[in-house]
Amino acid sequence: VLRLPGFPAPSIHSQRAYDPEENFTARWTRADALQLRAMSDPDAPAGANSMPPEYSMPEIPQDFPILTEPDGTQVWVWDTWTLTDAVSDQLSFKGWEVIFALTADPNAGYTFDARHTHARLGFFYRKADVPAEQRPENGGWIYGGLVFPDGAAGAIFEDQTFTTVTEWSGSTRLMDGNKLRLFYTAVAFYRNANDEDIKPADPRIVQTEGRIFADENGVWMTGFRDQHQLLVPDGTYYQTKEQNPFVNFRDPFTFEDPAHPGKTYMVFEGNTGGQRGAVTCTAADLGYRDGDAYAEDPATVTANGANFQMANVGLAVAENKALTQWRFLPPILSGNCVNDQTERPQIYLENGKYYLFTISHRSTFARGPGVDSTDPRFWYMDGPDGVYGFVGNGIRSDFQPLNEGSGLALGNPTNLAYGIGTSAAPAEGQSPYTFQAYSHYVMPNGLVESFIDAIGNPDVRRGGTLAPTVHLSIAGASAVVDRSYGDGGLGAYGDIPANKVQPVDPAP
Ligand code: FRU
Repeated sequence: VLRLPGFPAPSIHSQRAYDPEENFTARWTRADALQLRAMSDPDAPAGANSMPPEYSMPEIPQDFPILTEPDGTQVWVWDTWTLTDAVSDQLSFKGWEVIFALTADPNAGYTFDARHTHARLGFFYRKADVPAEQRPENGGWIYGGLVFPDGAAGAIFEDQTFTTVTEWSGSTRLMDGNKLRLFYTAVAFYRNANDEDIKPADPRIVQTEGRIFADENGVWMTGFRDQHQLLVPDGTYYQTKEQNPFVNFRDPFTFEDPAHPGKTYMVFEGNTGGQRGAVTCTAADLGYRDGDAYAEDPATVTANGANFQMANVGLAVAENKALTQWRFLPPILSGNCVNDQTERPQIYLENGKYYLFTISHRSTFARGPGVDSTDPRFWYMDGPDGVYGFVGNGIRSDFQPLNEGSGLALGNPTNLAYGIGTSAAPAEGQSPYTFQAYSHYVMPNGLVESFIDAIGNPDVRRGGTLAPTVHLSIAGASAVVDRSYGDGGLGAYGDIPANKVQPVDPAP
């Protein structure tokens, strides 16, 4: 991989494991994230990817197929996940594969970009054990409908004057027999007729229990009426909506750690606690090695407003078997003064190593209010939309960012010399694939699923459907796209296979 001169060295990270209860938070530092720009080819022409192909998702053709309802109309899907067990294996149920997705109705009068405040959890199923090449091109998922009864997700909010409550990501554990524990984010929005917040949005991590059933004709679910509020930010480790009306607090993912049997942990997306703008960038957030000629000074970085971007990955531990009571632990990773969002975090175990994967956006990198927001020549922190990955020796570790110390595991093809624009209208000169996919989730064996957002520039085709699955070869501190997988690296659309069969209890 090409590495330009003129950039600092990445921080030193030992990968050393700490007890999950200990107060140690690994940092994705500015020195680390600058490796992203150091790897960007300044000679890449307009429209071309400037990032290394090893770390870039292959280009998805613009004539992709879409997922539909049984009558052929499209149902928009974005963040997607499967039935999982305690160690993130993906389970089939009675011969069916099942996925959960955030969904919205394309015919309800709002655009795909306005979907977030209308998100409802839906599910799809398809027969297990069918090779990808024998399935329909769109993956063959059958829409099963919404998961929750109408109105169920709003019940936990004391202030019932919300305009909408959305059901955001999410993970689903299949427990004994056919019991499901669904972990998700309920967000209450309080808006006026112009769709502006009159009170800050209120995100909470919630669990609800249901049952799954299947026969030879398909899959259905019941329950999900009672909602258990699990976590609201504490203001110390995790920023509250009072401290920041734009706070990010969502996307619970639960798992057991073989090193701590009998306990269940959760990772989630958070922001560093404290009043927005009042917490300063520290030398540790910057992470420069002693004597690095390219080191910045924390006071200047703070004065430039980088401290408005304060992502973290949170950790919590369950206090009861029903997983309805949880206790916050300190975050396992922060991206203070680097990026504001580390979304849909997950822990992935392989070869005795603990990988933390999380998705992030180019637009949420730290730039500061004084910086020209359209001209990348003035951006110090930069990197593509996609998956970022970190490796350590435990769930709490001094995590080392993958791939040249940068953290980039799988980015959309992007030219960092050109601006961003939006999914609906990418910036001039930008790669037509810069918004091609998002909300990637790393599945067992390094397979990665995601959804299609927007492909083309300037003629954009929007997605709202499942992307082709890709394969990452993950080893040590590297994760590389396997271009021998599928068609030049692109597998089948919506290929989200179960890798394990749920043992079904004999009838009582
Ligand atoms: C990622 C994400 C999640 C959130 C959802 C809302 O795509 O931002 O963090 O749960 O989308 O639509």
